[in-house]
Amino acid sequence: MPVALLLLLALCNGIRVDGEESNGHCDLKSTLDSRPHSVSILEFGAVGDGKTLNTIAFQNAIFYLKSFADKGGAQLYVPPGRWLTGSFNLTSHLTLFLEKGAVILGSQDPCHWDIVEPLPSYGQGTELPGKRYRSLINGYMLHDVVITGDNGTIDGQGSVWWEWFTSHSLNYTCPHLVEFLSSEYVLVSNITFLNAPAYNIHPVYCSNVHIHGISVYAPPGSPYTVGIVPDSSDKVCIEDCSISMGHDAIALKSGWDEYGIAYGRPTTNVHIRRVQLQSSSGSSLAFGSEMSGGISDVQVQQLHLHDSLTGIEFRTTKGRGGYVKEIIISDVNMLNVETALSAIGNCGSHPDDKFDPDALPVLEKITLQNIVGTNINMAGNFIGIQESRFSSICLLNISLSIDSASSDAWQCSYVSGFSESVFPKPCPELENFNASSSCFSLLKPNGRAAIL
Ligand SMILES: *[C@@H]1O[C@H](CO)[C@@H](O)[C@H](O)[C@H]1NC(C)=O
Ligand SMILES: *[C@@H]1O[C@H](CO)[C@@H](O)[C@H](O)[C@H]1NC(C)=O
Ligand SMILES: *[C@@H]1O[C@H](CO)[C@@H](O)[C@H](O)[C@H]1NC(C)=O
Ligand SMILES: *[C@@H]1O[C@H](CO)[C@@H](O)[C@H](O)[C@H]1NC(C)=O
Ligand SMILES: *[C@@H]1O[C@H](CO)[C@@H](O)[C@H](O)[C@H]1NC(C)=O
Ligand SMILES: *[C@@H]1O[C@H](CO)[C@@H](O)[C@H](O)[C@H]1NC(C)=O
Repeated sequence: MPVALLLLLALCNGIRVDGEESNGHCDLKSTLDSRPHSVSILEFGAVGDGKTLNTIAFQNAIFYLKSFADKGGAQLYVPPGRWLTGSFNLTSHLTLFLEKGAVILGSQDPCHWDIVEPLPSYGQGTELPGKRYRSLINGYMLHDVVITGDNGTIDGQGSVWWEWFTSHSLNYTCPHLVEFLSSEYVLVSNITFLNAPAYNIHPVYCSNVHIHGISVYAPPGSPYTVGIVPDSSDKVCIEDCSISMGHDAIALKSGWDEYGIAYGRPTTNVHIRRVQLQSSSGSSLAFGSEMSGGISDVQVQQLHLHDSLTGIEFRTTKGRGGYVKEIIISDVNMLNVETALSAIGNCGSHPDDKFDPDALPVLEKITLQNIVGTNINMAGNFIGIQESRFSSICLLNISLSIDSASSDAWQCSYVSGFSESVFPKPCPELENFNASSSCFSLLKPNGRAAIL
């Protein structure tokens, strides 16, 4: 074994799962344990010239490392170089480690990306009916997987996909960079994501997902590029990340209309903190619009949002069913944001015409507090649903400096809530002074979100 690999052993990490269940917040009980084995992608014939296709090398390496799953797991080491590949699968008890200067490049040939069935909670591809492209790096029913490194890079080379998307020449829904399905104890840390065809990190039906210390970038014009999308997943922590996207930076989702209602798996127990988010044509932080399995128990702190179309946005529409509730967002700084706060009840399309227009979504118990904004155009846009009003929206200690002469800083319909120390003065619907007791808040003892 090369000497270099011995040195690497100190870097090999896995997630130790202690007996006690983690509460999904960022104080995850899981800690990093050493992986007893490590191999380099070079040992599987990979060539890091940016031209040679290395899909088989990645697949073979991971197939080999499967045999270490019951021996403490293993690390796949990717040295400096430009490693072109099509999609491949990960395995349990694996650490994919990207050295400084290592770049995994997504192939620009669609043939190198498999076609797979749509997610059951979506029923369709999100952009086109029918199937979708498989993601570049995939995990299915895995346990204890780490993608990390010394700030190595995963570059989706998405420009071709954005062009096909814009010119309507795609045959299937665009792929993502990293997708975990039905997996648990997943850690993604200390790497950079560039130019995803669509989403960068998409945990679906997952539990115990920790995303820490990553940089994510796609250029302003890139359509539907999204940073992190926790989707029908629970116990998710996202911290210390910097994300700049064409569309949304972080979007929480949980399935689409009748498919999401039938699947019925919520996104819940999510903690997001110390993140810097930017989104030129979407929202820095979005909830929905696909939320049919429900989204609840989300705690967000220390957000820095800048140069975005919308700062924080809740999206839904009739036919979604589901709920968005028990959300608390605090300590937010916004700079150069068109619309600071938004909740829209007629947002997003339907997978097909089988949706039930009477499946009304519920949006309630949302607290937004300690927010300062500079160079904001519109403070708040709250458009509820007549048959299902947005309720218990609490705005506390918010100060937004509106740049233009825009007369309507707030727009409200079919919404009710409470506000205190909010500038500019919100619409009367949000000034229901006897509703403070219905403000969603935190109970201190066990740190879990709850209703006061
Ligand atoms: C990757 O995993 C999927 C299941 O999610 C499987 O259908 C596919 O055959 C796997 N591909 C390889 C190359 O192992
Ligand atoms: C990682 O690399 C990216 C892109 O080069 C850079 O923006 C970021 O600051 C780096 N992160 C760390 C922690 O060094
Ligand atoms: C879509 O399918 C058509 C017809 O098979 C093909 O010519 C075209 O290259 C495909 N588009 C993409 C982006 O793969
Ligand atoms: C990521 O980097 C930080 C700071 O350098 C370090 O403390 C942490 O252990 C790293 N995480 C992993 C999984 O290597
Ligand atoms: C109000 O919000 C600002 C900005 O987040 C914060 O510095 C200040 O401490 C808050 N005031 C109270 C009373 O919480
Ligand atoms: C204030 O509270 C009372 C009793 O809880 C309720 O009946 C009334 O509708 C509330 N007022 C408003 C404006 O919501």
